[in-house]
Amino acid sequence: MSTKITTLRMLPPAALCVLLGASTVLRAQSANAVEIQIKADQVASHVSPMLYGLMTEEINYSYDGGLYAELVRNRNFKEDSKDPVHWQLVEERGGAGSRSLDATQPFNEAIGSSLKLTVTQASGNQRVGIANDGFWGIPVKPNTPYRASFYAKAAPGFAGALTVAIVSNDGTTAHASAQIPRVTQDWKKYEVTLTTGKASPSAENRLVISTGNPGTVWFNLLSLFPPTWNNQPNGNRKDIMQLLADMKPAFLRFPGGNYLEGNTVATRFDWKKTIGDISQRPGHLNDSWRYWSSDGMGLLEFLEWCEDLHMQPVLGVYAGYSLRGGARFAPGAELEPYVKEALEEIEYVTGDAATTWGARRAKDGHPAPFPLDYVEVGNEDNADRQVGSYEGRFAQFFDAIKAKYPKLKVIATTPVTTRFADVIDEHYYRRSEEEMAFHANDYDTRRRMGQPVFVGEWATRVGDPTPNMSAALGDAAWMTGMERNSDLVIMASYAPLFVNVNKGGMQWQTDLIGYDAMSSYGSPSYYAQKMFSLYHGDNVVPITAQGVPTREWQPPAGRGGFVPPPQAAGRAGTPQPQAPPAGAGRGGRGNQPPPGPQQPPMPQQVPLMFFDATRDSKTGAIYVKVVNRSATAQPVHIALSGVAAVEASGQAIIMSASSPADTNSITEPARIVPITTKVDGLSTNFTRTFPPYSISVLEMKAR
Ligand code: AHR
Repeated sequence: MSTKITTLRMLPPAALCVLLGASTVLRAQSANAVEIQIKADQVASHVSPMLYGLMTEEINYSYDGGLYAELVRNRNFKEDSKDPVHWQLVEERGGAGSRSLDATQPFNEAIGSSLKLTVTQASGNQRVGIANDGFWGIPVKPNTPYRASFYAKAAPGFAGALTVAIVSNDGTTAHASAQIPRVTQDWKKYEVTLTTGKASPSAENRLVISTGNPGTVWFNLLSLFPPTWNNQPNGNRKDIMQLLADMKPAFLRFPGGNYLEGNTVATRFDWKKTIGDISQRPGHLNDSWRYWSSDGMGLLEFLEWCEDLHMQPVLGVYAGYSLRGGARFAPGAELEPYVKEALEEIEYVTGDAATTWGARRAKDGHPAPFPLDYVEVGNEDNADRQVGSYEGRFAQFFDAIKAKYPKLKVIATTPVTTRFADVIDEHYYRRSEEEMAFHANDYDTRRRMGQPVFVGEWATRVGDPTPNMSAALGDAAWMTGMERNSDLVIMASYAPLFVNVNKGGMQWQTDLIGYDAMSSYGSPSYYAQKMFSLYHGDNVVPITAQGVPTREWQPPAGRGGFVPPPQAAGRAGTPQPQAPPAGAGRGGRGNQPPPGPQQPPMPQQVPLMFFDATRDSKTGAIYVKVVNRSATAQPVHIALSGVAAVEASGQAIIMSASSPADTNSITEPARIVPITTKVDGLSTNFTRTFPPYSISVLEMKAR
């Protein structure tokens, strides 16, 4: 990439044209203060109250081994039909035995095999048992109660007690333990609380269930939960929930993503198999991301997660299309069962106890219906190359949903002509900061057609496993464009949200929040999101800029090359963009146009600074966001019109780094975080210098 820096000088009449494509670039001789003007008494558009939300799916061990607090891995032995993976045999001090999967002892219809422990030698202080190694360890923290539960039944002749304990991997330390005095010969649930003492925090532990008596015992659905957010019984990890709560997200799009669709219909998110007591949930192979899903995070848990964080659910329903082998159902009778399934799912979410599925939800423990405004039909259905398939499928879902739930807004995953979708979901994964910054102003020139946009997945994919500061700068540039155009972009959610950073945990690089068994952290992109979500007014105010430095960017050649911004047809009062460069790929697998003849990409000038301004209609506070991607501190002269005065004191929230490669990690979770300081010297006419590689919000009080 070239690093040649020039200066963008332009003053388009339209309020929203803060920065434009290379057609408007005039090269300047020096890097003087950038000039920005803010018309604080005018309203360019409104910031959607739904703009900042979350998108989630089971990827990168997002729930199992992630947010879902269950600590036992392979708790019902479905991960492998032959081998009880993650379960080891424990033989202590000469005790002997075996452990195996036993299909002759089915647990219920959902779980066909049990774990059989046969103890052949155990006397004196000898012990034999089973141990689970969890998701990259079982985390132990001091003075903490853990809820252990399991089902067991004993063969005739076994008369021993069982010890349930959290034990260090080397077997030397039992951090907490409890006794089950006897086990009956019928399946029965056993529950104990294991409370640690002054234990040193560590993940190098296992859950061990052992006995000192010979005989046979079968086990099933073994579970261990630490304290959860809001003490939900089948709940979520507190630390990760806190990171999410701090973002104040407006909505949660779930359950995917590819995870919604599966590779085949059998491996889709089959919501009916994810509800009810966890002992009745079979789980399923998450073949989109190649690992087993316990479905402990089922439909009700997604909804309770929304409730816990005051988020609106945005419910993705399976739309009769899976990812592999042309697995789709033709519109008409073939598709109808899946339309019915979606209607029932909506009833489970919103119906009262007089409805069939509302009653089922009440039985599952949540009598009150959940609020629901948005339903999304499928995911990235432009990947379905059968001409017209989604047109027909979407129309059938749309008609059925609107007939029963006329107030619901129905989101299409790609543009459709058969119906006027309420919202269109667009996905943008960019491979570099430069590429994301190049596109940051795309929505300034998007024609308003009365159909709002949900940017349901987007990210600057730089950094592994989590984004670095370079990615955060690209993200922040992009967010200025979405916020400024929030009359059009009414919702946005970064993806993927989570990654377990252990080896083997990540399937998709660059994820917002990272964790292992012990702790979690937000990436620089996480903090950028938080800054945008927390600090904005409800009105977008016009802002213009001159003298913005640019940097030359050589777009990559080849696939994912030259892709124009969506429907770039110009918006009244804004200049037309020039055709954008190669390297502007949209979407993950979706929203990609079919490959066409490749043009050699031209180098492009990409702005190094981005701005937007919003104002709170109630308090009058003005929020100016400034993104400085350059390696130098950048003075900016800010002139506000339309206000009598601005108080001299305000606050600045600034996140900066000494290098774009700087990042956060498990060991350095807070290397790059926003810092809030009181600032003075604000007025309707002032100059402020923004640090290199920085994202800033200036909050000013205006009269
Ligand atoms: O976010 C990862 C994947 O990217 C999603 O599952 C899919 O919708 C997109 O292609």
